[in-house]
Amino acid sequence: MESAIDWHATKAMLEWQLEMGVDEAILDQPLDRFAIDAAAREAAQAQRGRTATATAAPTAPHPVEQVDPVAVAQAAARSATDLDALRAALGAYEHCDLRKGARNLVFSDGIAGAPVMIVGEAPGRDEDREGRPFVGRAGQLLDRMLEAIGLSRTESVYITNVLPWRPPQNRDPLPAEIAMMQPFLRRHIALAQPRLLVVTGNHACKALLGRTGITRLRGQWTEAEGLPAIPMLHPAYLLRNPGAKREAWADLLALKARLRNG
Ligand code: URA
Repeated sequence: MESAIDWHATKAMLEWQLEMGVDEAILDQPLDRFAIDAAAREAAQAQRGRTATATAAPTAPHPVEQVDPVAVAQAAARSATDLDALRAALGAYEHCDLRKGARNLVFSDGIAGAPVMIVGEAPGRDEDREGRPFVGRAGQLLDRMLEAIGLSRTESVYITNVLPWRPPQNRDPLPAEIAMMQPFLRRHIALAQPRLLVVTGNHACKALLGRTGITRLRGQWTEAEGLPAIPMLHPAYLLRNPGAKREAWADLLALKARLRNG
């Protein structure tokens, strides 16, 4: 079959790359370029004839140690035997770049051990500032929704998010970020020991149910982490779509009934 990119196009692309300064093809082994010291860089340049003044001998670049961020997260989460230890393990986890742009780690709010555990998506600006989940407008709506069925984060609800750090500009979580945080979230649920889970919005559904499609999933009891779980519309969605509050109310009543009936 004829390739979509012909010889001339490929040559033009290579020439463009050369013009932009690309002078090395992809290597077989990953290279930690930060580990290559200045002397080695100068010597390498001298070898290519770009400088005649290099004097230092090049040191061999170290191949980067391959790390699986999900495996590291699994080990860290597994080793936490209580919620404080889990918070500390998350704080020490260095493979998620979101932490670099965040002011605070947003771990949880409410009563650990409460019957209801709510899982949201990720901190926004207000949560990042305060270090607590759901404290902005969506959180205030969430509090009113809970109050309407006799629940509150001061008595009967525990809250966390899939991501503990605010994504830049509140962008959606990336699949890789969800995958890294999933072991921590699972451990969080196991250690908090709620009776049931409220899974708000598509990203939490993805992390806990492996599915998205919240408008279809909402209100349908299912199971997550061995617990009854009800997907619900995210409060931020309800702020943007007030017409959907009718469905949210139906789901809240289903939650209330389930709690009453055990
Ligand atoms: N939205 C979320 O999903 N979580 C928060 O903590 C705040 C807004």
